[in-house]
Amino acid sequence: MARKKIVAGNWKMNKSPSEAVALVNELKPLVANQEVDVVFCVPSIDIIPALEAAKGSNIEIGAQNLYFEESGAYTGEISATMLTDVGVKYVVIGHSERREYFAETDETVNKKVLKAIEHGITPIVCCGETLTQREQGITIDLIRQQIKIAYQNVSADQAKTTVIAYEPIWAIGTGKTATSDQAQEVCAAIRTCIREVYGAAVADEIRIQYGGSVNDSNAAELFAKGDIDGGLVGGASLKADFGKIVNYK
Ligand code: 13P
Repeated sequence: MARKKIVAGNWKMNKSPSEAVALVNELKPLVANQEVDVVFCVPSIDIIPALEAAKGSNIEIGAQNLYFEESGAYTGEISATMLTDVGVKYVVIGHSERREYFAETDETVNKKVLKAIEHGITPIVCCGETLTQREQGITIDLIRQQIKIAYQNVSADQAKTTVIAYEPIWAIGTGKTATSDQAQEVCAAIRTCIREVYGAAVADEIRIQYGGSVNDSNAAELFAKGDIDGGLVGGASLKADFGKIVNYK
């Protein structure tokens, strides 16, 4: 089956609310491509103004994190209910920066994935290896482990609606993109892992993105690969170039 591509911008900790509105307004006409799902994953404080600015366009607004409890004494956190209340449809879960700087683990990633699904938010589930792990030759084993733990207690029907983002850590923000063959190899291995756990129908439907220094000159080659269904884009999602990535063909 033909999977619809999904290109998501991960703004990380960039853009104040007023800057977010300006960026959404600038990009709106540039990303108006109905053949691709377009998502902007913005800082929490930008969600509401970004949603307002994106109204009537094809842009969906996503969050970059949520907490796995319903509510309560969790200072600084944001719940799934808060996100759905304003119309958030996607959430990035387990980005390598959250694993590195905020002590997220495969287990907390799993709890967050389950919470997002419970509330009807599509998780963009991140996985990826360090350069050392790649050099040790353990990339595929490690990614399979990350995926298997992230999807514990997720049913087949739920899994097929989720998105996986393969982001080699050595390619993030470094300008050093994985080659399209390297990216394809791991995305194919992820799909095989999903096939083993959930069967062929889920594996055929689930969308797998590549992330790590995606830009307007490498997007077309990456997205042409059979198991790469779009991208999770950091730096290049903050400028007009993002329009060229969405219109990669
Ligand atoms: P860059 O595109 O800036 O390398 O970031 C990738 C990323 O981490 C997206 O989540």
